[in-house]
Amino acid sequence: MKILVINGPNLNMLGIREPGIYGRATYADLCAMISDHAEKTGVEVELYQSNHEGDLVDKILEAYGNADGIVINPGAYTHTSVAILDALKAVAIPAVEVHISDVSAREEFRQISYVRLACIATIAGHGFDGYIEAMDILRERYEG
Ligand code: DQA
Repeated sequence: MKILVINGPNLNMLGIREPGIYGRATYADLCAMISDHAEKTGVEVELYQSNHEGDLVDKILEAYGNADGIVINPGAYTHTSVAILDALKAVAIPAVEVHISDVSAREEFRQISYVRLACIATIAGHGFDGYIEAMDILRERYEG
């Protein structure tokens, strides 16, 4: 099984960016944790991060025929991007939405998620562990 893990804008700044909300661990730490879990569970993983909406769309579309599951934290594009929603719908690959912070307890504008409409589950507020939980949801579903 192959899982594509996509992180959107500003997630490359983890560890520096608002540590009170996102913690002190870095994007490299997150990647190491995901790779380690993939190895332990026998899953192939590809990690991708971009600050650009169109690049995120392109990456999702490229996953068609190449990935069995998508874990996506679209960052701020969660709350604005119909294009990312449509890309997920277009490829119809099972996807899980992840947010490090508990978006439900934050500003009003973070309460809307377009991508959620194309995802089988949403995990928010579990920190980096949310990515691991999302990978497990996709793997369990794939393995039946
Ligand atoms: C985030 C939450 C978003 O509202 C925010 O714009 C992010 C990160 C999270 O992981 O908690 O960039 O997706």
